[in-house]
Amino acid sequence: MKSIVVLISGSGSNLQAIIDACSSGFIPAKVSAVISNKANAYGLVRANDAGISTQVLSHKTYSSRDKYDAALMDAIDQHKPDLVVLAGFMRILTPAFVQHFTGRLLNIHPSLLPKYQGLDTHQRAITAGDSEHGCSVHFVTEQLDGGPVILQAKVPVFSDDDALSLAERVHEQEHRTYPLVVRWFCQNRLQQQADQAWLDGNVLAANGYANDDED
Ligand code: GAR
Repeated sequence: MKSIVVLISGSGSNLQAIIDACSSGFIPAKVSAVISNKANAYGLVRANDAGISTQVLSHKTYSSRDKYDAALMDAIDQHKPDLVVLAGFMRILTPAFVQHFTGRLLNIHPSLLPKYQGLDTHQRAITAGDSEHGCSVHFVTEQLDGGPVILQAKVPVFSDDDALSLAERVHEQEHRTYPLVVRWFCQNRLQQQADQAWLDGNVLAANGYANDDED
């Protein structure tokens, strides 16, 4: 049984989707620990409710990003995870951290990468007048929100959407895509080699699996 450590900063709805998928057997793994940089993250309650060990590691108690990431690395390594899942972990990671976990570090980002790296993705899609938006699950590299995409899901943007309504629509897709990608990883079907993602021995397109774009 593979072991997963999940990092969060907030609500943890993606964490919940992964916990549920582990309980149902859809993901052949267990969540060994949840670590948050924020003490009030609701995801910690979700983890406690599921009987998963939790740890709060506040970045505020460290004098530098390097020191915080070194401590975080140690905290994660205690659990000897096969996979580290970033689920709304709102921190920029140091190269040393990323290198340490390369190939077993996943993130979900609320946009159709490479569009809208960084924050406020839903509002930015609306402001740009986009007709579609979505989410991307990707391997993490040293390039912020720039690692190889594994799976995207698209949603329409409607004329009366605001950032909240659009975020809700995207969240629904996040809760489907992230467990599926974690399942593939735990089934040994998914690998990162150099700067590419591979599924079932095939290199994935730049914007991931099942992308239906013509261009
Ligand atoms: C999700 O929408 C995720 O895509 C986003 O934070 C939210 C966390 O929600 N992540 C990022 O923006 C990372 N750059 P959750 O805590 O309910 O899973």
